[in-house]
Amino acid sequence: MSFIVDTGVQVPVRDGSLLATTVWRPASGAPAPTLLMRHPYGTDITSGYGGTQSPDILALMAAGYAVAVQDCRGAFHSEGVFTPHVDDRNDGVDTVAWLVEQEWCDGRVGTYGASYGGFVQWLTASTGVEALKAMVPTVTSDDFYLSPWYSPGGALSLETVFSWTTMVALMRAQFEVSGGGGDPKELMALAEVMADPRGAMSVAPTSSQELLERHLPWLGDVLRHPSRDEYWQRLGPVRDVSSITVPALNIGGWYDLFVTQTVRSYTTMREGGGSVEAREGQRLVIGPWAHTPGGDTGIYPDRHFGMAGSVVGSQLTDIQLRFLDRWLRGNEDALEGTAPVRIFVMGLDQWRDEQEWPLPDTQYTDYFLSASGPANTAEGAGLLSSAEPESEKQDTYLYDPRRPVPTLGGNIVALAPQDLAGPVDQRPVEARDDVLCFTTPVLENPVEVTGPVSLTVFVSSSAADTDFTGKLVDVFPDGRAIILCEGIQRGRYRNSLADPELMQPGEIYDITLNMSVTSNVFLPGHRIRLEVSSSNFPRYDRNGNTGGVIAEETEADMVIAVNHLHHGPAHPSRLTLPIIDR
Ligand code: BEZ
Repeated sequence: MSFIVDTGVQVPVRDGSLLATTVWRPASGAPAPTLLMRHPYGTDITSGYGGTQSPDILALMAAGYAVAVQDCRGAFHSEGVFTPHVDDRNDGVDTVAWLVEQEWCDGRVGTYGASYGGFVQWLTASTGVEALKAMVPTVTSDDFYLSPWYSPGGALSLETVFSWTTMVALMRAQFEVSGGGGDPKELMALAEVMADPRGAMSVAPTSSQELLERHLPWLGDVLRHPSRDEYWQRLGPVRDVSSITVPALNIGGWYDLFVTQTVRSYTTMREGGGSVEAREGQRLVIGPWAHTPGGDTGIYPDRHFGMAGSVVGSQLTDIQLRFLDRWLRGNEDALEGTAPVRIFVMGLDQWRDEQEWPLPDTQYTDYFLSASGPANTAEGAGLLSSAEPESEKQDTYLYDPRRPVPTLGGNIVALAPQDLAGPVDQRPVEARDDVLCFTTPVLENPVEVTGPVSLTVFVSSSAADTDFTGKLVDVFPDGRAIILCEGIQRGRYRNSLADPELMQPGEIYDITLNMSVTSNVFLPGHRIRLEVSSSNFPRYDRNGNTGGVIAEETEADMVIAVNHLHHGPAHPSRLTLPIIDR
């Protein structure tokens, strides 16, 4: 294998700005199918910032591709101002147009990249640009309100927004100071935030982040648009998936912050993509991975998924190369023996090929919530059972936003060294009075849960607005309570993310939470547990329970909510699990 690397290439886009690009290409000079990766993290990063699920550049060189890695507008050596999402559609299309004009490009272009490097792919593809033949969006999203900035239930993904903004601002400040410009004091201040991001996230009001906003004013826009309004409609790439005509290999992780959306991208494209190739060529691969580098090993302190669980063990590079070979080189046989869906089934700790997602034999099964006494804490009397409850009851807890339930692992970014994403033991939060726990008896037979999980709860509150959270947990025989997936629903967005409606204090509402997706076999000796509460902080911002503008509230504004969960024949609160019985 012999290749050439051209650094400092300047790609002109329609307004005359030059975007810094590094080109890797075969030394032979022969025209090659070309891959484009764009992101705001510097062109030295060739596999994407969010994890190492993107193929190694040397594997792409060995396979004979040319690769262009580009700084997004305003990032590192590219001209202009970096405002997330805003310019990526046009800049991506103009770069594809430039690529096909190069003598080393054979006219066929694919895109790849993780996280921000995936947002840009969906934006480029949504223009229907002719030369684009395939894409590999990895741990990413095609709808920026739903993921990563807010969530399907309308709560702000605070940990993501703040840690990412801090990281981007810090990278930029480092770049400026090392080039002899910038302000070293600002760099120091950002480095301090990065060392303790939870400290910054705990400051109320959320909107008082002058330091971060000074470096990335876009943060203010995000906080000023808590509803899924016109601002988000404009930013999001996929208003109409039929505009996308290329197949995508969607790659995600069960503990990645984007996983709900990764799966949604796959299903919406499968149903409504703009060509037969886009619909039938969609692929989905999900491993036991979290977002940050390291989360892709499948090895976590509280849970170890074995060697097969790592990115290397998954043979992901082989899958990616075959996919690219099929769509960029037209090799019809390249995907032979592979399946459209490949998932890591936790519990069994094995990879499994599937033909569809959700799995065709899914039995959506209700597990009802009941309790013979208070369900507060894991020591309480909460029961989860497929039998319908016979008597009516309510469980009560006080949700105090000044004392929120702390996030322990799960689908967070976890950029700070002291934070951990993924399958973390939840026992410390299950000991809290404001966490209701509903648990099955010890299982005698394995129970497989693979697919979308949802929770319907009948709830009332003393407040005009509050949040409800749900968490699915696998309780091991040794007592470990390992988080699988979770969700949150903000009361005011129970009917619509675009048109908030406050609650009537005391009125009972049935609210459905999107609890994301998972694939896990609960083994004999284990128990299935559901936690219900009203905060998961700082994964999500805390609801001050006032019905006011949440991002503007100080701790003094916040009030305690008395929240009730109703269960029984008239109020069938239930967890709906996608059961696979093979
Ligand atoms: C990333 O590129 O890794 C990223 C982008 C947005 C939010 C979180 C992470």
